[in-house]
Amino acid sequence: MGMSDCLTIIVLWEVALSELGWGRHYIAVEPTHFRVDYVINPYMDPAVQPDGPTAWRQWHEMVATLRGLGATVDVLAQRSDAPDMVYAMNLGLGVVRDTGDRHVVMSHMRYPERRMESRSAQPWFAERGFTTSYVGRDGVGAHLEAGDAFAWGDALVVGYGPRTEELALKHLASDLGVRVRGMRIAHPGMYHLDLAFCPLDDRRAMVCPSALDEASAQALLALVPEPLVLTEEEALTTFCANSVVVGHTVVMPACPDRVRAQLEEWGFEVVVVDVSEFHKGGGSIRCLTNPVDVTIGRDLPAVAGGAVVLPPE
Ligand code: ARG
Repeated sequence: MGMSDCLTIIVLWEVALSELGWGRHYIAVEPTHFRVDYVINPYMDPAVQPDGPTAWRQWHEMVATLRGLGATVDVLAQRSDAPDMVYAMNLGLGVVRDTGDRHVVMSHMRYPERRMESRSAQPWFAERGFTTSYVGRDGVGAHLEAGDAFAWGDALVVGYGPRTEELALKHLASDLGVRVRGMRIAHPGMYHLDLAFCPLDDRRAMVCPSALDEASAQALLALVPEPLVLTEEEALTTFCANSVVVGHTVVMPACPDRVRAQLEEWGFEVVVVDVSEFHKGGGSIRCLTNPVDVTIGRDLPAVAGGAVVLPPE
């Protein structure tokens, strides 16, 4: 074996070590009934409606981009009475259990305006071989919105406050048998963790600390060996944390030059897909897609009985 073979092996080994194990299988909801009918976040204004054909085109381009990168995207139909259902990230938290079973903890939306989404999503998952469970439903029990939860390091990192409730963290930890690290969200414009946190590989993530209270911001930064720290303005005006990573490609709604320079220096390729119509409802690329391939035992250590770790008050 020559020197160059050795180098190739070392380079491949490093790539294999750092890439996220998950992010190659998504579900998404085709925007056939996307509207802004009510106000449950600061971006929504029923006087500013999305343009249907433009939204349709943007969504299809996003899905084609993900598929072009080798990801699988399975599509659910949108209920006509559920204008926010396009934000599929919030339908439920999918994991592959260490038994190999595919499981979804269904979301229990904070606002009643979105709760009917689960009535279509639960049977859709069940028909496709997923087992499902819930931490609360129909207004009873803990609220959980899956856009708050990400496998990272030794835990499922879960934002709570505006949408997900603290009690849901305990249910998630014991039902899934994982460690849950809670982060208190304190910013009205970053009401889901996915607007402020985006895992990139096993050491790097985009993090916008202004989304969190002081103790949680410190706790989250301490979990990320190499954070790409976003300013409040970058996160709020470009939705750049609300991106999806497929291998070494970051699919982003926009990418400020400074952010692009850092991503490229780290070896990522940036692909920008305009989903601006969906910003009118307060979500972007991550919100429109829901990864279901996070695997316990690979992406998230199994912890018998579960454990919850909260930042100091
Ligand atoms: N209008 C939706 C809501 O307020 C937007 C959801 C955005 N999704 C997300 N994963 N951040 O619930």
